[in-house]
Amino acid sequence: MSTKTTDTLLLDHGDMRLVTSDTDETLAANSSPNRNQIIQLEPDHPGFGDAEYRARRNSIAHIALGYKPGTSIPHALYTEREHELWRTICETIGPAHRRHACAEYLDCIAKLDLPIKRIPQLGNVSSRVQMLSGFRLEPVAGLVQPRVFLESLANGVFLCTQYIRHHSTPLYTPEPDVVHELLGHAVTLASRRFAELNRLVGAVVKRRQSLEELERLARVYWFTIEFGVVRENNQIKAYGTGLLSSAGELERMDSAELRPLDLEAAAQQEYDPTRFQPALYCANSFEEMYQKLTHYLLRLS
Ligand SMILES: [Fe+2]
Repeated sequence: MSTKTTDTLLLDHGDMRLVTSDTDETLAANSSPNRNQIIQLEPDHPGFGDAEYRARRNSIAHIALGYKPGTSIPHALYTEREHELWRTICETIGPAHRRHACAEYLDCIAKLDLPIKRIPQLGNVSSRVQMLSGFRLEPVAGLVQPRVFLESLANGVFLCTQYIRHHSTPLYTPEPDVVHELLGHAVTLASRRFAELNRLVGAVVKRRQSLEELERLARVYWFTIEFGVVRENNQIKAYGTGLLSSAGELERMDSAELRPLDLEAAAQQEYDPTRFQPALYCANSFEEMYQKLTHYLLRLS
C-alpha cells in the first residue's frame, strides 16, 4: 500500500487485479487461502506512527481471528473517539448521498436505518441485510487474499473489516474500513439485485478463469459495482460503492466524462485507483445496468 493521504486510493477487497496475481504458480504454492491474513501498515499509512491506533486495530482484529463462520459476531468495543469519527463522516456523507445516490441505494439505506451517532455493530447490520436480501456479513481482521474474499461472495457472504480509519484523515482511507464496508457494500447488499450481482461475480471468480479473463472482469467490476453511475430523472446518480462511501468522490463525479454503459469497452479500459475517476460508465437506468451486468456475468459463469 503506497499512497499519500491526499490520494483517493482504496485498495479494496474486490480489486481483482490482485486476484490475478495469485494465479502465479509460485505464490499459490506458498500461500494457503486464509481469511485472516493481515497486511501490515506501511510507513505512509495515516495510522502508522500512532501506537494507540495500531493497538486498537489489533484489538478489533482479534474478534475476527477468533470468529467461527456462521456463529454470532461478538461486539466490537469502539471508543468514544471512534464513534465521533463515524459521526463526522456520516454528517458529511449524508447530504452527499441525498444529492448523488441512486434510488436503489437510498431505498436500502432507509431500510437499514444505520445509526449515525454510533458505529453500528457488524452482527446487527448483518442480521438486517440477511433479512432483506439473504446476504450476510462476517468479520475479517484486515485485507484478505482477494480470491478468498471474492469467492465467498458466491456463497452469499461478504467479509468485512471492523476497524475504522485513522482520525487524522476522516474522509480518506487507503484500505477498506468499517465506513467503506457498511456505507458502501452492506447498504447495497441489502438490495436483492445487488446481492445477486455480487453472487454472480463470486461464481465467475470461482471458475478460475484465465489471467486475461480475470483482468477483464476486474475492470468491469471497477466500473460497475465500485464506480458505476446511472441516469435517473435526467440526473446522474451513483450506485458504485467506491463512490457511495466517499463524499469526495460523490461531489466530483459530475465532472467525470460519462460514457454509455458498454461492458465490453469497460473490460478493456484501464483505471487508476489513486485518483478521482476521470471517466465513468453510465447506464440509462438502474434496470439497464442490472440486466446488462447480469447477462455479462452469466455468460462468463
Ligand atoms: Fe469496495
